[in-house]
Amino acid sequence: MKYKLADQVQNAHPTAIRKIFMYACDHPEFLDLSIGEPSPETFPLKEIAEASRDMYENNGNVALAYGPYQGMDDCIEQIEKWLTERGFDLTNEAIEMLPGSGHGMDNMANTFCNEGDVILTEQFAYPGIQNAARMVGAKIVGVKMDETGIDIDDLDKKASENPKTKFLYLCPSFSNPTGITISDEKRRAIYKIAQKYDFMIYEDDPYSRLSFDGNFATEIKKMDTDGRVVYAASLSKIVSSGMRIGFFVCNKDLRPFLEMSQGNAGVQSVPVMLTVANYMKNNDIEKHCREVGQFYKKKAEWFVSCVEKYFPEGCHVIKPQGGIFAWVKVPESIDLDETWDELIKANVGVVPSFGFSSDPDTVKGSAFRVCYSTPSEEVIEEACQIMGGVLKEKLGN
Ligand SMILES: Cc1ncc(COP(=O)(O)O)c(C=O)c1O
Repeated sequence: MKYKLADQVQNAHPTAIRKIFMYACDHPEFLDLSIGEPSPETFPLKEIAEASRDMYENNGNVALAYGPYQGMDDCIEQIEKWLTERGFDLTNEAIEMLPGSGHGMDNMANTFCNEGDVILTEQFAYPGIQNAARMVGAKIVGVKMDETGIDIDDLDKKASENPKTKFLYLCPSFSNPTGITISDEKRRAIYKIAQKYDFMIYEDDPYSRLSFDGNFATEIKKMDTDGRVVYAASLSKIVSSGMRIGFFVCNKDLRPFLEMSQGNAGVQSVPVMLTVANYMKNNDIEKHCREVGQFYKKKAEWFVSCVEKYFPEGCHVIKPQGGIFAWVKVPESIDLDETWDELIKANVGVVPSFGFSSDPDTVKGSAFRVCYSTPSEEVIEEACQIMGGVLKEKLGN
């Protein structure tokens, strides 16, 4: 049958991440540093099993019934407590549970964008925002960035050139894909530009609690005096990615619109929310985050030491201070497409920078994203050794 597909579906093409994911599925021996997923070793399995058992034994009838759109009160209360302890002022804010924070991007685009509207992002950003933009016919405009994150002058320029800008998408802490954290000073400047051009900010924050040294940048939401920041977070990298649980924090007046724009897909699983509520009631989630951060710190340091050992001159890694990603910069003379194909053939999975580009045809970048969360130290070392060899050959040394 010839399906009469919608334009936005027909125009979709598989991302670089999807391409490599498919390859990894067919090749179990693949040295995979490409997929951005949490290590199952960090999941609090015993505690979640206890929380789940307790929920079914003591609250089973509620757990197996429909729940409210916004999410279960028990779970929202625990999230509120967690955020308040972290210094959020929630007086004018509402929390809405989500089936993963990725869903929040769709909500945001559905709520704010008409066809032809603009979403600003860093030049290299999480591809989920591109999917969200495409489905509503919005245009992504990339803003230049360096090793300290988004370029403030270019943000001002792009905002002035694009009066149809509805929001800026930003993952400001231990970003996917670059691992970069934007300074507080820059965050304040970003907020001022949003005020100047009157656009919203979608602050995507799945990684900030995974700090290696206990340093945390101030969430932009905490600087928000106007109600123009929608803050989205997720338990995927902390408790479980499979349970699909995230939430956003937004101004109370905005919440009904974000909720309505969820359509039919946004109702969260009640047993998941109640299990997480029990888990958070009986465990110290911040302590758990610190432990997960230490787990990834060790992996990150190992990865950086392998890059330093095996990669040729001219390549360098932006050292992550938290989270699960590192951005390895390579000389601009390297052909990324060609090198990526060779790496795959050599059994190494990483994602080239163009896989995250706001405009992959013209802004390819010269870097690879590496996720060091799940592979063992042996796999990380072997992958770096091979990758270093391929890069040396390309550079002729
Ligand atoms: C920056 C960023 N935002 C959102 C998500 C989606 O996370 P979730 O599992 O909560 O949907 C991811 C997942 O990798 C991510 O890296």
